[in-house]
Amino acid sequence: MKRIFFLTIILVFLTGGLFAQKFKNVALTPPMGWNSWNCFGPNINEKLIKEIADAMVSTGMRDAGYVYLVIDDGWQWKRDENGNIIPNPKKFPHGIKAVADYVHSKGLKFGIYSDAGRKTCQGLPGSRGYEYQDARTYAKWGVDYLKYDWCYHGKQNSEASYRLMRDALYKAGRPIVFSICEWGTTKPWLWAGDIGHLWRTTEDIQDCWDCVNEWGGMGWTLILDKQVGLEHYAGPGHWNDPDMLEVGNGGMTTEEYRAHFSMWCMLAAPLMAGNDIRHMSGKIREILTNKEVIAIDQDPLGKQGFKITDIGDYEIWVKELSGEEVAVALLNRGLIPINAVIQWKYILKRFNFQNNKYRIKDLWKGKIVGKTDKILKIKVKPHSVVLLRLIKTEKEGR
Ligand code: GLA
Repeated sequence: MKRIFFLTIILVFLTGGLFAQKFKNVALTPPMGWNSWNCFGPNINEKLIKEIADAMVSTGMRDAGYVYLVIDDGWQWKRDENGNIIPNPKKFPHGIKAVADYVHSKGLKFGIYSDAGRKTCQGLPGSRGYEYQDARTYAKWGVDYLKYDWCYHGKQNSEASYRLMRDALYKAGRPIVFSICEWGTTKPWLWAGDIGHLWRTTEDIQDCWDCVNEWGGMGWTLILDKQVGLEHYAGPGHWNDPDMLEVGNGGMTTEEYRAHFSMWCMLAAPLMAGNDIRHMSGKIREILTNKEVIAIDQDPLGKQGFKITDIGDYEIWVKELSGEEVAVALLNRGLIPINAVIQWKYILKRFNFQNNKYRIKDLWKGKIVGKTDKILKIKVKPHSVVLLRLIKTEKEGR
């Protein structure tokens, strides 16, 4: 009897451990998908989400890696007498499971949004006090991704609140990407590594180069500045999240969107498209689905890029890639073209790769522009990025 008891305990322990491992493994590279917020705000409904699912397939977004379709704030209505969360029947007349099933039928994964406080940022019911019940509901609906916000948290402790939901998701037994959206207010990079797969590092992104709004939202270059130093906290299964993409939402030029996308890839950021992909232009689609640029973001080594040069409007960012390769971004934040001159030794020494030889590929041009044994002279247009990949040709002297 005693033996059976101990064997059961060991079995429970082992399966629990295996499940925790499975849960951890859902984001070994930064998650990619689409989220409704940046383009539609709370104006979401079943028809829109199904059309987006169709467009994810027809535009090639799914095949480029964008597999999570996430419904942000605005889907909820109220709780029933048993505390179950009920979706807004006008927006989602067939419930959430029907939408999740449709999304799954397209070879995509389905994500949803809630909040660690009493209410969401739209004033709808949050999960405070209902964590285990909501986690069970999400698992029943087939949810694969949860974005968990931080409005109306009152005096709640952030780490405890997010750990509580993480435990509830574990208990519900369905592997789910857990996206912490606490805006960086209590430095989640210091405590969230084993709680969530990604954590927001700042206030909300705005569709502009460097604007700031009154409640703290900001353009992507200002968000970029706030990522300096955070590179030490990212890695497979746990990522800094500089917020969702604004590419294609209309507030910036194509060149500026290309720069925004390039730098998010350099940061190993989660790539959540935030535009109306049903009606995007060819140029925007080319940015979002550029395979070689996405490969910088999704590199299996999982290193976040960091800044090595900052001279006024000119910045150089580098990112170590697997196989002793390197990505280099030359960012011009100003309005005057920059004639960049790159001494490769200076960059390669950072990684102790100075004995390797590389060809240099300009990823947006799609062509080789030089080799690392010569200085590279290249023009960086105003408000734009030149994104380079050093492709290893041979190794010397080791
Ligand atoms: C917060 C989040 C946003 C979005 C909205 C929804 O502002 O940071 O990303 O989810 O709430 O209300």
